Amino acid sequence: MVRWMDALTASAAGSRFSPHVQSSGVGRERLRFVVGDALTLGRISLSNSNSNSNSNSNSDSGGVGAGQFTLITGAWVLNYAASLSEMTARFTTIAANLCPTSGVFAGIVPPAVARADLDALAHETNKLNKRSDRTAMMGFARNYYERLESGDGWRTETMAGREGEGDGRVAFRNYHLAREVYEEGARRGGMKGRLEWRRVQMPLEAMSLEGSDSEFWREYSVSGVHIGLFVARRGGL
Ligand SMILES: C[S@@+](CC[C@H](N)C(=O)[O-])C[C@H]1O[C@@H](n2cnc3c(N)ncnc32)[C@H](O)[C@@H]1O
Repeated sequence: MVRWMDALTASAAGSRFSPHVQSSGVGRERLRFVVGDALTLGRISLSNSNSNSNSNSNSDSGGVGAGQFTLITGAWVLNYAASLSEMTARFTTIAANLCPTSGVFAGIVPPAVARADLDALAHETNKLNKRSDRTAMMGFARNYYERLESGDGWRTETMAGREGEGDGRVAFRNYHLAREVYEEGARRGGMKGRLEWRRVQMPLEAMSLEGSDSEFWREYSVSGVHIGLFVARRGGL
């Protein structure tokens, strides 16, 4: 499994964003980090030179670097796209690096909500967030603070951490775009195969941390799952 997207996001806040390569491992190279902007990264070369090819081509015609990855993961990365064109640029990068026949992208993103339902979800969530007992107990809230002029989604601010957790508390901003934007962005970016929204189920290990019948999980279930699992195939079925 190759997780370059995670690798690149880990230090994306650094230089904005000339791609560079770092290697790790003793003796033979075993792990390589390529850092860059997911919008413009282009096709990563697996040859030994310390650069990527930086071509955004997603043609199926082969050549150096074509089709070298069978799996790309992106955890909480696509939710930094503010529009369909930014979503398309991310998928153009993904498609350029996936094997044209068997390549798969698996992403953790905000919940899959249709454009027609997103305003209602935003208002309902903001109403729940006003209950301070709920946010204090859950230690997590996603605030929908501004609707996008395009109607494609909302600007959101996520707050995580409970009172008393001090430095562990964080707040950061990104977007909740409609599921149609994810799907259309994937298609326009070159993902020609099946697009799926997988059912989200909390692992038992996670549920047992708070006690599976605890107040925490009762509150959690009021608003539905907080993530979406989007799987897009480069080609094939
Ligand atoms: C919430 S973190 C997720 C990190 C990691 N995948 C995880 O699950 O812990 C989001 C990351 O996406 C990165 N990011 C946002 N836009 C990006 C872009 N255009 N190119 C590369 N990384 C980006 C941010 O810098 C940040 O490191």
